Amino acid sequence: SGELRGVVALDGPSGTGKSTVARRLASAVHARYLDTGAMYRAVTLAVLRAGVDPEDATRVAEVAAAARLAVGTDPQAPTVRLDGEDVAAEIRGPEATRAVSAVSAVPAVRELLVAEQRRIIAEMLDAGHGVVVEGRDIGTVVAPDAPLKVFLTASAETRAHRRSRQDAEDGRVATMEATMADVQRRDRLDSTRAVSPLRPADDAVELDTTELDITGVLDALLAMVDRRGLRG
Ligand code: DC
Repeated sequence: SGELRGVVALDGPSGTGKSTVARRLASAVHARYLDTGAMYRAVTLAVLRAGVDPEDATRVAEVAAAARLAVGTDPQAPTVRLDGEDVAAEIRGPEATRAVSAVSAVPAVRELLVAEQRRIIAEMLDAGHGVVVEGRDIGTVVAPDAPLKVFLTASAETRAHRRSRQDAEDGRVATMEATMADVQRRDRLDSTRAVSPLRPADDAVELDTTELDITGVLDALLAMVDRRGLRG
């Protein structure tokens, strides 16, 4: 089992098991891992802490430009820091989750974060590491030259169930109705925004995870990596 060469772009909506399999895949092929959603969430937290309205694009862009983000790329222990503080738990809370679609729709925020993501990816590749990058626009915008792009899907109901389970594990309380409504609301916002809407790249492989468990998804991804000869 060799090391990944190059970039694997993993895109798709939430609740597809994307984060879990991205980390497992990166570990399995001894690669680094970049969670771009965590970066949008950290900027969102900065916006909320500054008391700025997430819909106020001008002020959101100012907060984003001033925020000091640091993301760790170890798949076994991914970290996110905002102005030096570990915010990994807080960025997944209900406030940040509610506001992140508005913040990530601001073009200046996307420009800033895409540039930072490309910088991090280039640094990993220069250091001789492969990297698994997860998000919404990795195959279309951030890393359009990635040798493997996968777009994960699952039925909305399945995704809401997975989110509920994750929330319960993390000690967050939400009804199934609220979770389902939130999943559908975020899908709508993320796929209809003007800049970089959520959509598969033309050359992405679509993988429906509705009937698959994490191991099933991981096995399918490893088979794609090997079919393309991306393991050295
Ligand atoms: O993957 P996640 O749930 O942590 O992502 C949080 C939000 O960030 C999601 O609603 C869409 C946005 N996002 C984005 O617009 N582009 C990315 N590359 C990653 C996430």
